[in-house]
Amino acid sequence: MGRVALVTGGTRGIGAAISIAFKQQGYRVAANYAGNDEKAKAFEAETGIAVFKWDVSDYQACAAGVANVEAAIGPVEVLVNNAGITRDAMFHKMTPEQWNEVIGTNLTGLFNMTHLVWTGMRDRNFGRIINISSINGQKGQMGQANYSAAKAGDLGFTKALAQEGAAKGITVNAVCPGYIGTEMVRAIPEKVLNERIIPQIPVGRLGEPEEIARCVSFLASDDAGFITGSTISANGGQFFV
Ligand code: CAA
Repeated sequence: MGRVALVTGGTRGIGAAISIAFKQQGYRVAANYAGNDEKAKAFEAETGIAVFKWDVSDYQACAAGVANVEAAIGPVEVLVNNAGITRDAMFHKMTPEQWNEVIGTNLTGLFNMTHLVWTGMRDRNFGRIINISSINGQKGQMGQANYSAAKAGDLGFTKALAQEGAAKGITVNAVCPGYIGTEMVRAIPEKVLNERIIPQIPVGRLGEPEEIARCVSFLASDDAGFITGSTISANGGQFFV
């Protein structure tokens, strides 16, 4: 039987592409989602991938959610921390709520979810943690002081935990997508997207969710066992670290 993979935010956007790629590769997949029941049910019906609802920013909800997933399909061997939100605003207009929501989901969510699968991975001497950060955590982005801070934090978390997991067969890596053609990016004002963002991408287009899913599939594979603490940047040449 295939390994068990849990993808947070796994029913839409990049997360959906990751869930589907894993299923195609024979993993037993659980896709977490937080809010959109209608989309999640449609995703489940379409793909046959089991969906589980909880908020990754809430530790108790994560504990219950992981317990449900493990009871349904087995101990989590691959965790993809993909769930992410934006609350973009110029800093002088940013509210404490916009700051806290983004840090809660995009940074504390990684602590919550990883903490709950970590001991099992250590006990079994195998694990794969893949954190979806962002180009904007690497370079910073105007209008995203909250998001850039959280996504940069995800990279520090990845590098610290990679050192702790290494002796226990657990790799911890990050993927930094650039601007990918998902609902999140399509929500950017059209003028800003077309006139300010796309011209900054040397390949001249938005990325596809499947292009990120292929990076994640590789990091989850046995072939990637010597790669830990790394970041794969997939951004169409927009930014080089
Ligand atoms: N790149 C370059 N310039 C940008 C920009 C960007 N990403 N975002 C805003 N600007 C520019 C605008 O073009 C505008 O310039 P002008 O005054 O010269 O026209 C200026 O900044 C101010 O922008 P607005 O007039 O839109 O100001 P606002 O207060 O109404 O809105 C905003 C500010 C909410 C930040 C809005 O501009 C916005 O949503 N920008 C997009 C920010 C962004 O890039 N978010 C990424 C979301 S996708 C994501 O996060 C996924 C990922 O990981 C990559």
